[in-house]
Parts: sequence; structure tokens; C-alpha cells
Amino acid sequence: MTPEPLTVLGIETSCDETAAAVVRAHADGRREVLSNLVLSQIAEHAPYGGVVPEIAARAHILGLDRLIAAAIAEAGCGWEGVSGVAATAGPGLIGGVMVGLVTGKAVAAARQIPLVAVNHLEGHALSVRLTEKTEFPYLLLLASGGHCQILEVQGVGRYLRLGGTLDDALGEAFDKTAKLLGLGYPGGPAVEQAAKGGDAARFPLPRPMLGREGCDFSFSGLKTAVRHAIARHGPMDAQACADMAAGFQAACLDIVRDRAGNALALFTQRHATGPHRVLAAAGGVAANRALRAALGLLCEEWNFRLVTPPAPLCTDNAAMIAWAGIERLRLGQSDPLDTPARARWPLAAGSGGD
Ligand code: KG4
Ligand code: ZN
Repeated sequence: MTPEPLTVLGIETSCDETAAAVVRAHADGRREVLSNLVLSQIAEHAPYGGVVPEIAARAHILGLDRLIAAAIAEAGCGWEGVSGVAATAGPGLIGGVMVGLVTGKAVAAARQIPLVAVNHLEGHALSVRLTEKTEFPYLLLLASGGHCQILEVQGVGRYLRLGGTLDDALGEAFDKTAKLLGLGYPGGPAVEQAAKGGDAARFPLPRPMLGREGCDFSFSGLKTAVRHAIARHGPMDAQACADMAAGFQAACLDIVRDRAGNALALFTQRHATGPHRVLAAAGGVAANRALRAALGLLCEEWNFRLVTPPAPLCTDNAAMIAWAGIERLRLGQSDPLDTPARARWPLAAGSGGD
């Protein structure tokens, strides 16, 4: 096992953010994000209204070396202070994942330090333990551009999937709604901003799965309803846009409240006497303030504590990858240099790959 303090370089390249970070964990439990750099590719993908995989992979190649050097410099630890390297090995856009993982392997080989091949979803799942002391088990709502699921996090590498989306991810629904409204890319923050001045009741929208048993989601019907409502309305002025954004966001919040409520009930049944009642929310959509507020109220009702990382650690970042690496190294785990990159890699064994 690698002795503490552990100082790990994290590398994240699974989608459209090139990210490098250095995180240090001390033997007494303190943890420090020494650097956390993100090189956004938004400008390169914006003309296409979404992420273009080949453009993403090329941008990772062009940006990653310098970003890593900057992350090491900002951390102030020097290469000799780095005790391990953690790189996202999937799931994600395979070209980008390969760029980050190969770079991580090169660092591990050159510096003679252990490599941890991190599941990106595990990075999100454990990120709450980087920012707050959160004991296992806890519930996790993981909502990002590619994923929407509710899990019980039982330990490092131990995840029980309680439900997930049957079609689109929540972030994807935000992105598509933004595109339909001409709000640009990425859509989540734009829809949240537009919704602030909107009347959520003006355009009635459906709430798929509401009231159903279990913790599954479905957003494609909602997205289609938004498209039809816009077509019926005709040209959307700023107020109509805001009203539609508000209506869409309100529908999403109702759905998440309902589905997460079922998860809290399930967790309460499973751990009736357990001392920890924590709902964590992670992934890009967890940066949404209205969502955080709705989950906060739900947790109050159920006597749960809501834990959400600060927004920069909710959206894709390398600090969460470094942290997942630390969690694994602490358990004596690392990965060989022939570990493959994986486009699909479900977090919970036997679960669907959403
Ligand atoms: O976790 P993330 O950075 O990348 C993935 O792993 O997918 O999540 C990105 C997603 C995008 O769909 C983006 O629109 C959404 O998270 N997002 C938001 C907000 N900020 C980012 N959705 C709603 N409200 C936000 N404030
Ligand atoms: Zn992500």
C-alpha cells in the first residue's frame, strides 16, 4: 500500500472537458485540492450544438500535456511529490478516454508510480467524500449529460443501482430543451438562467413516471412535449422562452423529487436503524440551484442530510478522479499498464449502461 500522505495527479478526458488536478490526502483524514484545472472545449463544439467526438479527442491531445504541467506547478508539490496517477478509463467518448488513459500510463511508467484506471461515474459517486466527511452507505443521485441514475453507494467499488433512466439522461434533456429554445450549448446553465424570469404554469408539460413505483426515470416524452409546445406556439420571444424553460425545469424537479423520494423510502426500509441518512447529488445537473433547493426540502421531510459538492466539483473535473484514485490506493488497489479504455462501463455490476 502507498504510504500517506497520498498526493495523486488526476486526469479527466471522457467528454468535452480536458482536466488535470492534484489532490492530497493526509493520514489524519484532511484532504486538499492542490490544483484543479479545466480546459473547456465549449467554443470548439458550440457551432455544432453538441459535442463532436473527433474534435473532443483532438482538443484533449493538444491541451492535456500543458494542463498537467500547469496542475503540477500550481500544486507546488513537484513531480517528485506525486505518489500516484489516476486517469479516467471510461465510460465516455472512446477517443478522448484513450488520450487521458495513455497519458496517465506514460506518467506512471516514467515516474514509477502506481496507476489507477478510474470509472468516471465512480469519480462522481465518491466526489462527495472529497468535500465532506460522508460515511458509507449513502444514496446518490447521479445526474449528468450522459447519465441519470440513483444508487446506494455501499463502499469503494460497491454500488447498488436502484434505478436509472429508460431513455435520455437529465442533462441531455436540459441540453435538448436549450437547443430547441435557441439558448445555446451547454444547455443546463442556460435553461436554469432563463427559467428564473419565467412562468412555469404557462406551458403545461407532462411528468413521465410520476407516481410509479421504483426509481427509474424517463425524459424523452417531456422533451417531445417541449418540441410540440414550441411548434404549436410559433416564434418564441424572450418571455415565451423563459416560460418554457421554467415549465420544463419545474417538470424535471417534480420528476426528480418523486423518484428520489422513492429512493429515500427504500433506503429507510433497508437501513432502518442506520445512523447515516445522506442523499448525495453529483454530476453536472447537480450544479442546478433549483434542483439543489428541491432536494434540500425533500431531505428535510425525510430527515436526510443533502450533500452536494460545490458546482466546479459537480461538473466534470479531475479532482474527483484524483480522489477516486486516492480511495483505491488507500485500499491497496491499482491497475496494470495494459488496462483498456472502455466506452461503456456500468458502475453497478449487472446494471444497464445508462
Ligand atoms: O457531469 P457533466 O459535466 O458531464 C457528463 O459527465 O455528462 O455534466 C454535464 C451536463 C450537461 O448536460 C449540462 O447541461 C448539465 O450537466 N448541467 C446542468 C447545469 N450545469 C450543467 N443542468 C442543469 N442546470 C445546471 N446548472
Ligand atoms: Zn461526468
